Amino acid sequence: MIPIARPIIGESEKNKIMEVLESGILASGAYVEEFEKAFAAYTGTAHGIAASNGTTALHLALMAAGIKEGDKVLTTPFTFIASSNAILYCGAIPVFADVERDTFNIDPEDIRRKLEEDPDIRGLLIVHLYGCPCKMDEIMELVEEYDLILIEDCAQAHGAEYRGRKIGTFGKAAAYSFYPTKNMTTSEGGMVLTDDEEVAEKARLLVNHGSKVRYYHEELGYNYRMTNLEAAIGLGQLEKLEEFNRKRQENAAFLSEGLKGLPWLELPHVPADCKHVFHQYTVKVEERDKFVSYLQEKGIGYGIHYPLPVYRQPIYERLGYGGISLPVTEELIEKVVSLPVHPALTREDLETIVQVVRDFSPEK
Ligand SMILES: Cc1ncc(COP(=O)(O)O)c(C=O)c1O
Repeated sequence: MIPIARPIIGESEKNKIMEVLESGILASGAYVEEFEKAFAAYTGTAHGIAASNGTTALHLALMAAGIKEGDKVLTTPFTFIASSNAILYCGAIPVFADVERDTFNIDPEDIRRKLEEDPDIRGLLIVHLYGCPCKMDEIMELVEEYDLILIEDCAQAHGAEYRGRKIGTFGKAAAYSFYPTKNMTTSEGGMVLTDDEEVAEKARLLVNHGSKVRYYHEELGYNYRMTNLEAAIGLGQLEKLEEFNRKRQENAAFLSEGLKGLPWLELPHVPADCKHVFHQYTVKVEERDKFVSYLQEKGIGYGIHYPLPVYRQPIYERLGYGGISLPVTEELIEKVVSLPVHPALTREDLETIVQVVRDFSPEK
């Protein structure tokens, strides 16, 4: 079986983990601060606040950026549920806009329509899905025009760039995930990045039970902290992130070259002036059920990211989102299949994937 994802853990991570274990400083520790500084520096942001996972990082980012109970936050329904759940955790209200057919990202034209329909929308949570940057020129124009609080969900896009600028540097705050399937990992883990001193200070307070001085609590906070062990892994992984991303891009190029010309298969699109870091390599097929059974049978791992728009998830239907219908999202959700693209793939794995996919016949 060629897996859909596999983390690569090297000597640097193993040595640091052993060092942390032997030091006995297993929870907060020096590596957490070092990792925060290193990851913020990598993206060119002033402040990094490490968190226990990408979901808690998103919750922190939204709260610290000023999203409050009752606020409406526009977002995409074509994502992992954590994106809009983090809005709900704030007591805020997700409002969904449709996505673009080629990039799967939130569509600036539909953002404008939704903003025109509802002048109460205060926030915008964008997701750079599969490693592909959103259309930031158009989005920043809307953010200014409508005075929106912009938060970037960068869980799938470490190191991605829009016109030479790293994603995660456009909004008031950004959130990253370091889950093992991501472009780099800390096991579980996440990070809030921001250039705004006040947002950073607020996130730092909230991540640690609202406390600056031990056992004194200024506000209702959380235990969303990253551990020293996780940060140790993150430091080792960060050294390799550029190499991991380069490998992902090469693998994607190999797949796109090998799979071109199949009339039943639509390849991923890389927008001009963007560095797409291929967290996922996601194709569109008409006969998806048949195709994925075939992949399963041939030992090719795959993923369906995602089988339902967020507003069709049972929890969202119960919250009253059942009546929504966004046509592009609903069209894409029926067709998407992610193929392995991770940096642990060998040349032989890639050749096998190409051969197996080319041999599929949707008519049979
Ligand atoms: C787009 C997106 N947002 C948020 C998250 C949440 O991250 P985590 O799983 O680390 O909580 C993920 C991760 O799966 C994700 O893909």
